[in-house]
Amino acid sequence: VRAPMVAANWKMNGSRAICREFLQHFDVDGSLDVVLFPPFLYTSILTEGFAERSISVGVQNVCNVSSGAYTGEISAEMAVDSGATYGLVGHSERRNLFGESDVLVAEKFMACQRAGLTPVLCVGESFEERLEGRAESVVAGQIDVILKSVGIKTFANAVIAYEPVWAIGTGETARPDQAQSMHAFIRAFLTKFDATTAENTRVLYGGSVNASTAAELFAEGDIDGGLVGGASLEFKEFAKICRSVSR
Ligand code: 13P
Repeated sequence: VRAPMVAANWKMNGSRAICREFLQHFDVDGSLDVVLFPPFLYTSILTEGFAERSISVGVQNVCNVSSGAYTGEISAEMAVDSGATYGLVGHSERRNLFGESDVLVAEKFMACQRAGLTPVLCVGESFEERLEGRAESVVAGQIDVILKSVGIKTFANAVIAYEPVWAIGTGETARPDQAQSMHAFIRAFLTKFDATTAENTRVLYGGSVNASTAAELFAEGDIDGGLVGGASLEFKEFAKICRSVSR
């Protein structure tokens, strides 16, 4: 059985004050995996503050190499040293705004696993790709690049997040049946490589999830939780989304 997971991607938002609000007021019941992805600078505040609670912290990006003369970069090892346990890889904003290639995304995925961070691999098609009927092949291609680098077995320690680009930050959530259909496709795709891994790998949905859309999405059989952007910065709203997971 896959444990549900709800994750907050704050993107380049948040502050020490918002961290303190979460530390003071945000809590969830222990059978749900909750992960907060703040900007790097706030990692330690949250990991130290949440040390006694079952709330995990992750980083939104890692460098593909471990250390050295890479001004401005932060390694997966440093994230682990700061108490992080997850790393986002391949978010569409990284791919599109910062030109991250499939090869770089694969290297970052491996950098996470090398350091002991669980990678959360983000995949998803653009609006044009969906219109052209290529949504499934685009998503399969993004996963395949990683499979070719690391092999199916390493997915035992990874999470996939399906984030259709047209649904991110647009207020246009994918319909539950639309999302479910892609999640089932992703699981079927993984099954071709290894049925057990496919059955155990969590696939989260991301794209304009909020407290009113979460429950319907999370009720779908292959949607194992969510990766929430805008609606995750306010602890009450995010707590509501976490409570939308039915077990
Ligand atoms: P929004 O929830 O703001 O649409 O962002 C989704 C996302 O990109 C999470 O990684």
